[in-house]
Amino acid sequence: MLPYHAKEQPPRMTDQPVSIIVLGASGDLARKKIFPALFALYCQKHLPDRFHIVGFARTEMDQEEFRNKIIENLTCRYSPGESCGQRMEEFLARCEYFSGEYDSQDSFLSLGQRLSEIENHRETNRLFYMAIPPFVFLGVSRALKSAGLISPPGSNPWSRAVIEKPFGSDRDSSDKLVNEMAEVFAEDQTYRIDHYLGKEVVQNLMVLRFANLVFDPIWNRSYIDNIQITWMEDIGTEGRAGYFDQYGIIRDVMQNHLLQMMALVAMEPPISLNAQDVRDEKVKVLRAAPPLELKDLVVAQYTASNGHEGYLEEKGVPEGSIAPTFAAAVIQVKNRRWDGVPFLIRAGKGLDRKFAEIRIQFRPVPGNTFCDPGTVLDPNELVIRVQPDESVSYRIMNKVPGLEMDLKETDLNLSYQAAFEKEIPEAYESLILDVLEDDQSLFIRADELAAAWDIFTPALQQLERENVKPETYPFKSPGPEAANRLAQEYGVKWK
Ligand code: BG6
Repeated sequence: MLPYHAKEQPPRMTDQPVSIIVLGASGDLARKKIFPALFALYCQKHLPDRFHIVGFARTEMDQEEFRNKIIENLTCRYSPGESCGQRMEEFLARCEYFSGEYDSQDSFLSLGQRLSEIENHRETNRLFYMAIPPFVFLGVSRALKSAGLISPPGSNPWSRAVIEKPFGSDRDSSDKLVNEMAEVFAEDQTYRIDHYLGKEVVQNLMVLRFANLVFDPIWNRSYIDNIQITWMEDIGTEGRAGYFDQYGIIRDVMQNHLLQMMALVAMEPPISLNAQDVRDEKVKVLRAAPPLELKDLVVAQYTASNGHEGYLEEKGVPEGSIAPTFAAAVIQVKNRRWDGVPFLIRAGKGLDRKFAEIRIQFRPVPGNTFCDPGTVLDPNELVIRVQPDESVSYRIMNKVPGLEMDLKETDLNLSYQAAFEKEIPEAYESLILDVLEDDQSLFIRADELAAAWDIFTPALQQLERENVKPETYPFKSPGPEAANRLAQEYGVKWK
């Protein structure tokens, strides 16, 4: 059967020209993610016929240098073979570089002039991608506005802004940023990106839950014992210590990537796939989660081991920093569906594995005929592997073939690689396309952001106020023992 298109296929925007302005064009994010994603969209004919890309940053660089930097990370995934080189040339011919100061109106006035020339003085949609540190968002947005580069909300041609986390560092600073940015870009023009929402398996969560009947009746506190969401990296801060130390792992990935996955697992079915309906349900479930208490949180830092320096020894980490590189937390959702089911989430860098996974652990079978009284067989588990090796598997109890009645846990396994021929898109490809098509359902709405901060802000502030020293764990280890103790308190074992 052909794939069923749940969303109407958007018309290709061939007659609506767009300029994509990448602010922070010389940085890592732009070079490694944004330009390759734009190229992939170009190869798949998802960009309008008349598009231009302008990279803006402070670094002085000529066009050739800029294009050489971009090409380093472009891949031929969507146009293999000889035509790829030609596609790259065509794409690069549409990219140009403009250097200027982020807080200078003059720089943006000159950028505006150049844009008008590139756009042939025709009405053109404009997408501003802010791949810049958050402390310059506001200055840049104001300068863009005062240079007259932004069209008002609801107008045609449109102006839209994509901003990258961190959106503040607690509820108050996030509210302040949201309110100040709203003076320039209305909520409808603002795309707060959380790239985990663009990952293929994360996008599948709603389909899995709401397009299949089998899970729905058991997706609640009567059948589910606990939910575990794990995110691990086996590397350190990799030259990003300056950024990382200001935020720590809770703000870097837990308050956003992990919490978003949790919201998709826990939310009620939306009445439609439209952005408002989907985000309303996410906000509701996040608001049902009371603020995390310190007793339900473990924070830790990696120490030197396996030939790798400890976090505190890394260049750029201030002496005695208490920024956690690992955190484990138990979050409760106090609503009819979930009351009493612990959501265990953990995230860490410098661990012994690199993966992201969601595990739904079901309750044991009551009065199980297959085992002696007092023995509990391992319960069913639905395991959603976000990365790497994307898969969905269901652990069931099965009879081992043979003359004996032996039981064994076995996986019903849907491996993406084996089941689907299609290339799995990068999260940024999918999300940038949504921005062009004005679909905000996978972007964080202001009230959703506020609800996410409400869960973590009190604990974060208490950790800092009381200068709580993180536990330690050796680099490339499974993490601190304290995380296991926390799980045990809820009768759970991390898998
Ligand atoms: C970013 C974090 O948001 O996500 C990084 O700031 C982290 O610390 C990265 O490494 C992980 O993204 P991915 O897509 O490689 O899992």
